[in-house]
Amino acid sequence: MSLMEEIITAVDEMPPFPQVVQRAMRALAEPDYEVAGLVDILKVDQSITANILKLCNSAYFGLPRKVSSLKEAVVYLGANQLRQLLLSGAASKIYEKPSSGYTVFADELWRHALATAVMAQVLRQHLRFKIDENTLFTAALLHDVGKVVLSAFVIDKYRAIEQLVETGESSFQEAERQTLGFDHAEIGGKIAEKWEFPDAIITAISFHHEPARAAKEFRLLTEIVALANSLTVMVGYGTGVDGLACRGHDLLLKKLKIEARDLEKLVLLFQLEMVKTCEDAGVDGG
Ligand SMILES: [Fe+2]
Ligand SMILES: [Fe+2]
Repeated sequence: MSLMEEIITAVDEMPPFPQVVQRAMRALAEPDYEVAGLVDILKVDQSITANILKLCNSAYFGLPRKVSSLKEAVVYLGANQLRQLLLSGAASKIYEKPSSGYTVFADELWRHALATAVMAQVLRQHLRFKIDENTLFTAALLHDVGKVVLSAFVIDKYRAIEQLVETGESSFQEAERQTLGFDHAEIGGKIAEKWEFPDAIITAISFHHEPARAAKEFRLLTEIVALANSLTVMVGYGTGVDGLACRGHDLLLKKLKIEARDLEKLVLLFQLEMVKTCEDAGVDGG
């Protein structure tokens, strides 16, 4: 079997993205979703139900009494918190496969993914980009999912990739292509296709290192994911050697009309938001 065939088999063998979460996302996308309908979708999954109650009863919400019904918790949390909790829960299970090939600990990759999603949200909110929140959060959270599959195959090739990056001539993605014939963004797009995600998400994942190649209708989304990715690397949420070769972010800043002075504020907002999200997701944010 060729390396590419092995990868395609591995993509096929990836666990499905949880149906309950996908169904809940569709329900939450409705502007006036029905709480009862949402509860019906969520209650079939015990661990999701437990996590929702746990978050609602956490110190962060500081509610005067314990909430024990799912319905009440759904009302308290609201659409945004619920969406983040559900997507982060599903994505963390997918990222937490060991990715030894990238000499990245699974939790480092997961932390980077979560940070990218938080950064993308901050960019969207404070620069008022007209992008669907749900689509952006999902795309940013899953942008590096291809690394989960590729890592199983690159252990022996990893050193070669690293050396190419260290010469400063290749970006990480170029080095992957030269060494393997494909890269993690491409594989990530295939995984998103298998999960039957919308085209917007498939595109943003596939082109998160080269947003200019994204179809016009999804370009802004892809640019925000790309920028969020390199900004998180800059502020210390990268993954190993990946961080050495994040290019093109000056161009993106210009294109998205973000001034240098805004960046400082955005990074601060990101850090505040990240601490809160890590608490919610039970991740060590430090
Ligand atoms: Fe990437
Ligand atoms: Fe990344």
